[in-house]
Amino acid sequence: MCGIVGYIGDGNAEKIVIEGLKKLEYRGYDSSGIAMNFGGKLAVEKRKGRITNLEEVLEKSDYPFENCHLAIGHTRWATHGAPSDINAHPHFSMDHRIAIVHNGIVENYLDIKEKLIKEHGIKFVSETDSEVIAQLLSVYYEGSLEDAMFRAVSEMRGAYSICAIAADEPDKIVATRKDAPLLAGIGNGCNFLASDIPALLKHSREFYLIENGEVVVLDKNDIKIYNAEHKSVVRDVFHVSWDAASAEKDGYDHFMIKEIHEQPKGLTETLMRRLGDDNSIKLDGINLTKEDIDGFNKVYIVACGTAYHAGLIGKYAIEKFAKIPVEVDVASEFRYRDPFVDDKTLFIAISQSGETLDTLAALREAKKKGARIMSIVNVVGSSVARESDDVFYTWAGPEIAVASTKAYTTQLMCMYLVALYMGKVKGAIEDAYYNRLIEELKEIPSKLRKLLGTEPQIQDLAKTLYKTEHVFFIGRGTDSAVGLEGSLKLKEISYINSFAIAAGELKHGTIALIEKDTIVVALSTQDDLFEKMLSNIQEVKARGAFVIGVAKEGNTAIEQQSSRTIYIPKCMDEVAPILAVVPLQILAYYIAKERGCDIDKPKNLAKAVTVE
Ligand code: AGP
Repeated sequence: MCGIVGYIGDGNAEKIVIEGLKKLEYRGYDSSGIAMNFGGKLAVEKRKGRITNLEEVLEKSDYPFENCHLAIGHTRWATHGAPSDINAHPHFSMDHRIAIVHNGIVENYLDIKEKLIKEHGIKFVSETDSEVIAQLLSVYYEGSLEDAMFRAVSEMRGAYSICAIAADEPDKIVATRKDAPLLAGIGNGCNFLASDIPALLKHSREFYLIENGEVVVLDKNDIKIYNAEHKSVVRDVFHVSWDAASAEKDGYDHFMIKEIHEQPKGLTETLMRRLGDDNSIKLDGINLTKEDIDGFNKVYIVACGTAYHAGLIGKYAIEKFAKIPVEVDVASEFRYRDPFVDDKTLFIAISQSGETLDTLAALREAKKKGARIMSIVNVVGSSVARESDDVFYTWAGPEIAVASTKAYTTQLMCMYLVALYMGKVKGAIEDAYYNRLIEELKEIPSKLRKLLGTEPQIQDLAKTLYKTEHVFFIGRGTDSAVGLEGSLKLKEISYINSFAIAAGELKHGTIALIEKDTIVVALSTQDDLFEKMLSNIQEVKARGAFVIGVAKEGNTAIEQQSSRTIYIPKCMDEVAPILAVVPLQILAYYIAKERGCDIDKPKNLAKAVTVE
């Protein structure tokens, strides 16, 4: 949940690390810091709040940055110890000879701390779990930081990616990871470390993906990787096609609205790479035979947050097109529920970041039980992707805003492709229906582009709504799942108390909360359920609700019932969710903007939740 960056070379390390941290602020932004090695003398500066606070301190300082060619930095999302200057990273060892930055949680830090205090008289200054790493390294340090690192991690439990520097080794950065992301960037006469690719895109497109338990040693000319047996390993270079611009705002006010506008491109990429001229689907390198598919007696879709909401549409698609029963579960529940999973189960993990710890743990749980593991992931080479039997990438490009948008719609596209592929191979779907659906999916990017044209209308609507403190989302069929996603978007960036419910459930209690001017967003994009939705709208209207109807063009009957209506382009019910969510994304964005919220970095949230 934090962001780490490291640099060693001949350049201005302070500048390069600070720039990189800014690209990772979506991972955590309650405090930040940097440790620099000035030819054998370590210096640490860290401050509570945004990186700008740290920059101010550095600008006012008299450090000879031109002589600093090695630095590690951190932007934090606090877990242990409230955001403060002391609890911010980097953490020093008691003798100030070692400094570390850490992303993750050292679960047994209290035991280690007690032992260090008792046996080595170590004095701790912070409330963090991370400080034990610096102190442990200093206790084991005998001139080789990588040796000390191997000894230290052998005593630690939990998830971590760590970068460390030592005063006595001014030409080296040592790092390691376990269940938290870390990659090494290959430079020319310099080398880099980071939690995520956007931090380094300005400097490199060639990376080494570090595996769990490996220790990596960087100097300006080389990157050495050692496995858990301390053996040197050779790793293939991983090339990234994204350019630096993709991690910039391109003139938009926020990454979120930029990424909403990038959806047509992401959907085209995600679909067209997998479609043959004959409308056949190729699931990249995934080899799912008829025998495999016939062998599955259940599909489990497991994820968190927005990805979980995509899974709900995936259930609908797989059951409808492939006729295989599907269960959808939130990962934090699945992993402790001892679910019924075996070698006849296809387990599908969905994750934008590919680093969400609950999803990763659920995946491992299912793998232990013999399930076939497929994942739908956006970040190439991430942990979920690497630990899956099959990975099906969403080609949305880097998603920087904490509120997920383009990852969600491309996850839906992947779910449709997987469902149609299995239905086709299994012979569970008629050719005509299959081809009609494929043609519909091909039209989605252009229809979505058209839908983006309603942005000014939705912005106006937001101006009339932004003061509200309660909003309800209702819908039937897939619309109830889309309502969950619309509600989450509104909650996480505008902090409005929002609730989504299946429209038919309203009268069983929740309708008691509906009163004069209560905002109700009524998703009515399913032709088969349109009439039913109109009567549900009448129910809330009768209690004085301000209804915002969302329907397909042509279904004008909703206008009589709604205070305001948003139309999406005509399409088959089955694919409507990809379009129906877009006005909800835009509405949430402009309501949050009117409320002056920090849209790309909502309070208390982070882009990748890498702790339990
Ligand atoms: C969505 O806007 C949130 N950022 C959050 O719910 C997110 O979907 C969830 O944490 C899962 O993340 P993942 O897709 O990276 O696994």
